[in-house]
Amino acid sequence: MNKRIIKPIKSLQGEITPPADKSISHRAVMFGAIAKGTTHIHNCLMSADVLSTINVFRSLGVNIEADENAGEVTVHGVGLKGLKAPSDILNTGNSGTTTRLISGILSGQPFESILSGDDSLNSRPMKRIIDPLAKLGADIKGINNPETAPLKISPAHLTGTDISINIASAQVKSAILLAGLYAKGETSVTEPSKSRDHTERMLKAFGADISVSQLTTSVKKCDELYAMDITVPSDISSAAYFIAAALITPGSEILIKNVCVNPTRAGILNVCENMGADITRLNERIVSGEPVCDLNVKYSELNSTVIEGDIIPALIDEIPVIAVLATAAEGNTYIRDAKELKAKESDRIATTTAFLNAMGGKVTPTDDGMVIQGLKSARLLHGAMVESKKDHRIAMSETVAALNATSETTINDADCVDISYPRFYEDMKSIIVLN
Ligand code: S3P
Repeated sequence: MNKRIIKPIKSLQGEITPPADKSISHRAVMFGAIAKGTTHIHNCLMSADVLSTINVFRSLGVNIEADENAGEVTVHGVGLKGLKAPSDILNTGNSGTTTRLISGILSGQPFESILSGDDSLNSRPMKRIIDPLAKLGADIKGINNPETAPLKISPAHLTGTDISINIASAQVKSAILLAGLYAKGETSVTEPSKSRDHTERMLKAFGADISVSQLTTSVKKCDELYAMDITVPSDISSAAYFIAAALITPGSEILIKNVCVNPTRAGILNVCENMGADITRLNERIVSGEPVCDLNVKYSELNSTVIEGDIIPALIDEIPVIAVLATAAEGNTYIRDAKELKAKESDRIATTTAFLNAMGGKVTPTDDGMVIQGLKSARLLHGAMVESKKDHRIAMSETVAALNATSETTINDADCVDISYPRFYEDMKSIIVLN
């Protein structure tokens, strides 16, 4: 069991460029693999989850060169019909995005494949993709349990249809759209509120016939996607830990560079604004079809807020660290409509409540979120022994809380940050001013 000891700090100062966006990196590798020609990905995230995607496509016969230090990835695409039958089970590790999106692609292949991941992944819900893919004609089954991986996907002829999904999930939407590339006619998916739209933006750039009308996205059967160059901006989900740490640590001011602020991802910025945070967007620009800017973040006295409804998908991965922000605010913060937290790498309602309360926070879990009693200062938390439950976003949120606690905190299973942010502790250290 690997541990990290986090000591209280004075403040945060300086500049930081968070790692590349995980969702965009996964998609760049996947779409490059099934496109015709060579796709160059600059600043690709080289974390365990993206390596799972790269390795799965290598097992499907795609030549992918990856310079892990430089984040340069070259994908020699095989075209929509060029994937080869794998000789073994495809290992998707801890990655829900890899498993669910690739299931869509594999549903349209003329060979059988089996996808399986680690214990956490194999306990996460897969019926949400099995059922809609089956509506397109896919032959996809849970091998041991009808609702979870390992998944066996057998050859089938797909036919496009209109599908409504009852959870706002980009992973489910993307699985359907990717299967739709192989399905006769047109496939459309309607979601209850808008989830992240990287698939729509990037598939269009790769040449797919895809259109979006409010909550419905439609794609037509595709003959070929075409390779392109992609530069991946920094991940707002990783930037979130620096945003939160600077906002709650008195005397802090940092510049977070190159952050993707796609509105379907940037809900945390709206929440921070509602809480009275001092965040300025600088140097706004477009990078590979995604809105990007630098964020100047200053320590702020925060007010409580209510987070519910359509904004939830735009900040779903940031809720654990938003709970830390709410602990430092004045008043009670209510998070609702976020039942999806239970289906992530851990049950994040339970894991967030557990670590904050262990540190002296006052969080009450609810069926679809939590109520956080603000302490008016993060400095009122105390150090504790906390569990990440091998969930990267929990370990990083625990670090943010611990930086401000009155005594040192030990995080168990701290190395799980490798899933999305291998250099997290070193990068955080680089902007810390010690007491
Ligand atoms: C992701 C979508 C989200 C998010 C996950 C990455 C993606 O999951 O939580 O970390 O890349 O599509 P859901 O779409 O299932 O909510």
